[in-house]
Formats: sequence, structure tokens, C-alpha cells
Amino acid sequence: MFDKQVYIDRRNELKKSFKSGVLLFPGNDEAAMNYPGNTYKFRQDSSFLYYFGIDIPGMTGLIDLDEDKEYLFGYEFTIEDTVWMGPQPKLSELAGQTGVEFSKPIAELKKFLKSKKKKQSKIHFLPPYRAEHILKLSDLLDENPNRLKSKYSKKLIEAVVAQRSIKAEEEIAEIEYATEIAYQMHTTAMRMAKPGVIERDIAGAIEGIALSIGNGVSFHSIVSKNGQTLHNHFHGNVLKEGDLLVCDAGAESLLHYASDITRTTPVGGKFSYKQKEIYEIVLTAQKNAINMIKPDVKHVDVHLTAVKIIAAGLSQLGLMKGDLNSAVKAGAHALFMPHGLGHMMGLDVHDMENLGEDYVGYDNTTKRSDQFGLSYLRLAKELKPGFVFTCEPGIYFIPELIDLWKSQKKFKNFINYDKVEEYRDFGGIRIEDNILVTKTGYKVLGRPIPKEADDVEAWAKS
Ligand code: GLY
Ligand code: MN
Ligand code: MN
Repeated sequence: MFDKQVYIDRRNELKKSFKSGVLLFPGNDEAAMNYPGNTYKFRQDSSFLYYFGIDIPGMTGLIDLDEDKEYLFGYEFTIEDTVWMGPQPKLSELAGQTGVEFSKPIAELKKFLKSKKKKQSKIHFLPPYRAEHILKLSDLLDENPNRLKSKYSKKLIEAVVAQRSIKAEEEIAEIEYATEIAYQMHTTAMRMAKPGVIERDIAGAIEGIALSIGNGVSFHSIVSKNGQTLHNHFHGNVLKEGDLLVCDAGAESLLHYASDITRTTPVGGKFSYKQKEIYEIVLTAQKNAINMIKPDVKHVDVHLTAVKIIAAGLSQLGLMKGDLNSAVKAGAHALFMPHGLGHMMGLDVHDMENLGEDYVGYDNTTKRSDQFGLSYLRLAKELKPGFVFTCEPGIYFIPELIDLWKSQKKFKNFINYDKVEEYRDFGGIRIEDNILVTKTGYKVLGRPIPKEADDVEAWAKS
């Protein structure tokens, strides 16, 4: 964990948004994989991690604003635990590591909360996203599990989002380290993108890198020659000369900060002419989008700039037609780029998505569109110094979507379906980097990972 002062300062900052009540942060528990004793790799809740830093299951952090006290509720490890797991710290030692004065057995938490409720103290908690948490909170707070979901604290969400959105120096260093792991992963994937290799050969190799120098992957790796499927987690195809391999993969640093990078590599080391034309459109869209990034720019405008460049490029190739501003306004480009340009990134790869995407990426002045494509934009609001987010344009040829829109004659004034047919087996291309908003502009985080077409080819040939 960071120095305990980091967590003390974070909690003090959070407390400024509240005058009274209790702020409750249940950490995650072990989650059973196929039987209770065989669990998934433990992942702490990110907000608990942010305010308390302790990477151990079964803990709850509590800030009592009425009494101005902080508590860590948890377990004392038993001799049996020591036999199976080795020596463990005492609960009071764990509390001390994060600068919390009081520690109590978790069995006393219910009674504690009951007494606070009796005194009409408001208990603030974030929306639970694991079934176990819903049940635990419903027991602790004497709430029906079905109703509990709507009882979370909007005020706590807003305060946490405001704080976690602005990355401090030590967090940026963690994210930079996560992108360094991604550098190793992606250059390995490029080198391995050879005919005869199975996608899982590459997925296994790069996930091994993430585990060996970090805390493993930050999300399920996408390593696919069928990159037109946006989140394709199937890794069973054999690569052949001429395929395009989309690799969208990232790692967690040892303190759980994420990276999320995508590169697209020609299998065998040479883009075809047709592939390179599309690749250059995506790269140009990404570079121009990144160049726009600075404080107070709305990210929805960055997204719209990127998709206009994509529409213009596709129009030059004869795939789109008509007035491009009207085409983009209507959403016709979404046949080729049906997703948003990027999302916040931090302790979660889609940072704070469990708190509600609209709290993280939207605000009173920026409302979510309901148009297909634009509606998937996770970050739309004004950018602020300290935001870290992804920039990930792509062009995809999704046969099922093409067939549907064609049969509906959808946007036939903007899309040249005859030309699109020539690309139906093309696959997809995405390029993704991780960006920090600085006081005056932006910084692309991490060591540059090859993305110029020539550089990608050189790595793929090596
Ligand atoms: N890695 C999933 C995404 O780019 O959002
Ligand atoms: Mn990604
Ligand atoms: Mn992403």
C-alpha cells in the first residue's frame, strides 16, 4: 500500500463533503469459484482500497462523522489461519497501517450500525455490485435485499467520484507502471502474431507477463483475429497470413491501478493495402482526438471529432457518402464505430463503473445521448486536470450489423452498402492509449507502444 498518510489525507478530504452520519465501506470477501474453499483470485473493492488500502478480504472501513472517529472492522486471525496461511497481522496492526485509530470485530458491526440508526444517524454506502454484499448489507442494515439497491447514497457517490477522478502523482506513477507492463505485453503479442500461432498462445504469454511483473490482467484480454466483435474473449483461432490481430489487453500494477491498451497487428508482418488504408484512418482519428485533449474540453466533442475523421476517411474510400456532418449527426458512422471513444481509468479499468457510469462520465450540463453508438460513450463531460482515460477509436465490419442495416435500408443516403460488401470479411481495427489531462494539455502515459503502421510491421516481423 501507499504510505498511510495518503489514506489519512484521502479520508480527510472525503469528510469535508459531509457534516454528519456514517460512511460505510465494506471491503470485498472471497468469492467461491466452484466450491467455497476454491476461490477466484481475491480482488479488493476499489473504493475500500482507495480509502483504506488494505488488500485483505473480510474488512469493513467506517467513518463516523458524528463522533469524528474512524474504525476498521474485521477478523482476528486464528491459529488455524496461521497453520494454513502463515502468520497474519493483528486487526489493530492493520488499522494502524492505514492510520485508523479504532478496530473492532466484524461481529460487532451490526450492533454498532443499529445504535447509529437509533440516533437517526444517516448511513451512507455505495451501490453494492456483488450478491454477497447485497446480502451482507441487507443484514447489517435490516433492509430487504431488493430494496437495498435503491438505498445507496447519491451524496457519497458524488463525493467519491469527485475525489477518485483526479489522480494524484503517486497514482499516476502506478498507472505508468501498469502501462509499462502493457508495453511488454503488446510488443510480445506483436512479435508472436505469426501464421500457425493460436490466439491462446499469445493470450497466455501476455497474461503471464501481467502476472509476473504486476498483479495480473486488469480485464479479460481480447486477443482475436475477429476484432469486429468488440469484446471477443474467444482465443481458439489459428492465425493465418493476412489476418488482423486485435489485442486489447492491460495489467494491474501491484497496487491495482490499471492500464488498457489496444494494438492491431497484421499476422505475418505486412498490412495489405486495404488494411493499411483503414489502419491509417483509425490512427489519424486517434492522434487528432488526443491532440484536442486539455482541461475544459468536453469529451463528447473529442469523440465527435474522432468519428468525423473516421466518416471522412471512409467516405474517401467510397464506404460512406453524402454530407458528413449530417451523417455523423444522424449516427450513420456507428455502423463502423459503434462504441464510445473512451472511459475513465484508475483503480478500475472502467474507473468507478460500479458507482454508475452517468455519475462518472456525465453531469448536469452533459446528458447521455440515446443514439446507437453515441449512447455507449462512457465519458462525455468536461475534462479536468488529473483525469486519466482511454482514447480508443476503431473501425469494424460486423457482418450481422451490416446485413441488418442494409435490409432496413438504414442511412442509405450515407452508406454505400455495395462497397461495404467488399469489406464484410475485413474484421476490425482498434488503437487505444491511456491519457492524462495535465494543466495545459495532455500526456500519453507510459513508454510509447509502437502504433505507426511501419513500426507495428517491424515488431511483427521481428
Ligand atoms: N478493454 C475494454 C475496453 O477497452 O473498454
Ligand atoms: Mn481496451
Ligand atoms: Mn478501454
